[in-house]
Amino acid sequence: MGKTIIISNRLPVQLQISNGTITATPSVGGLATGMKSVHSGSESLWIGWSGLTDEETPPELEDDIDKALAEQGCAKVNLNAQEIDGFYFGFSNRTVWPLFHYFLEYSEFELDFWETYKSVNQKFADAIIEQSDEDDTIWVHDYQLMLVPQMVREKRPNTTIGFFLHIPFPSYEIFRTLPWRKEVLEGLLGSDLIGFHTYDYERHFLSSVRRLLGLDVSFNDVYLDNRVIKVDSFPMGIDYKKFKDAAIMHDSKKSKERSDLQMRLDNHKASAPDTKLILSIDRLDYSKGIAKRLNAFEYFLKKYPEFKEKVRLIILAVPSRSNVPQYQLLKKEIDELVGRINGELSTVNWTPIWYFYRSLPFESLIDLYTSSDIAWLTPLRDGMNLVAKEYIATRTDQTGVLILSEMAGSAYEMNEALLINPNNFEEQADTLKQAFYMPVEEQISRNSFLQKRLERYNVEVWANEFMNALNEKRDIGKAFI
Ligand code: UDP
Ligand code: G6P
Repeated sequence: MGKTIIISNRLPVQLQISNGTITATPSVGGLATGMKSVHSGSESLWIGWSGLTDEETPPELEDDIDKALAEQGCAKVNLNAQEIDGFYFGFSNRTVWPLFHYFLEYSEFELDFWETYKSVNQKFADAIIEQSDEDDTIWVHDYQLMLVPQMVREKRPNTTIGFFLHIPFPSYEIFRTLPWRKEVLEGLLGSDLIGFHTYDYERHFLSSVRRLLGLDVSFNDVYLDNRVIKVDSFPMGIDYKKFKDAAIMHDSKKSKERSDLQMRLDNHKASAPDTKLILSIDRLDYSKGIAKRLNAFEYFLKKYPEFKEKVRLIILAVPSRSNVPQYQLLKKEIDELVGRINGELSTVNWTPIWYFYRSLPFESLIDLYTSSDIAWLTPLRDGMNLVAKEYIATRTDQTGVLILSEMAGSAYEMNEALLINPNNFEEQADTLKQAFYMPVEEQISRNSFLQKRLERYNVEVWANEFMNALNEKRDIGKAFI
């Protein structure tokens, strides 16, 4: 049996060059953080984009870059600035991302974007062919590379190919609006196994396949020519142990070993012991509902003024896709909202919102998770939302309340959280109040269920279940040759 080739647009590290020196920073986002744990424990090769365009890469550093990536078990696909514009900022993030998250009005149907998406997907497929053998197993990830399975299949008809979509697959009524809907489905159907986070996404996909391509679908099998493609749901987990261990280590740190951020959080707790910290962490993305959350927070403080000076909202918004106009507008909207709400409600002793617009290292995320009494995550649509799972994993004493949008894939597995509709401000205000007063015994009872489930279905189990299902397909296929 050959090796596993992982392929995604984003590699687990992003390279930068300054003054002739290459630096690597960990990538942000559920795909990269989750798959990193899977990749580091296996013999796999991970192919993707390095984060540098051809124009930013001095030819004399090419070998060093390849070496830096090879040390991490990675290899790169070279993309130029025009390709990144059309493929990444264009079709991936101005067409597919908004459409698949039900932001139909943001979705742009530009032929140029589509043409570049096709040619860049072909580049990724060519890189796979070049760097893999016939008996390797290919695992393609996410919406940036939906044509790759079919492109690889054309050249390697017998190779085993799996595809996993990390974002929602929308209902047929939404998906059908895409001008290139058939090509996208045909691209995906080059796989032997197609995985989604939830059963709903899987059903939406099967319904689009049936209605747009007229193919036979029986249970979760699609019949295409002489092949049977299996479609299934695999809810992605987290590296539970990594988060739990980091939190245990964090708890045991002596005061002089504590980070600046932790000291600031400690000072806050010491100066206002009856105040609660509410945390939200997301990439700055309209699908995450950050602006609505800020409005809902203001509504909560107006509905229940007794919580003024009693709660503080920490918003960590990680810069993301900042060349896309919708993200620039959102940044402006959030800056203004935070400014206005803080301006209107602050007192001499209290600023209601602490807002950070940056990416933080792993240790700082642990500081935030472990210090916050409530995590409040309100995506309007989210394929999964791993932050919700990470927060629960770090609660070593099992206290803490998770308020989670029912529009997140993770809500399906996190019934013991307080699930809310992010559009319902009344419900959110009442839920924040409920969270504030939730007895410790109830917190522990809810979180112990959640923790057990997260520990059992961790990211390694997720990857194994996907790979086992894929290998099963390969073995059945071989039996017919
Ligand atoms: N994250 C990170 N640095 C940060 C903030 C977040 O690495 O400063 C990570 C976080 O730990 C989580 C991921 O980014 O693993 C976000 O994944 P999620 O599924 O919640 O959302 P996505 O960004 O994939 O839409
Ligand atoms: C989501 C997507 C990933 C993507 C990540 C970060 O998790 O499913 O494919 O890598 O967001 O977005 P970015 O555009 O920075 O790769």
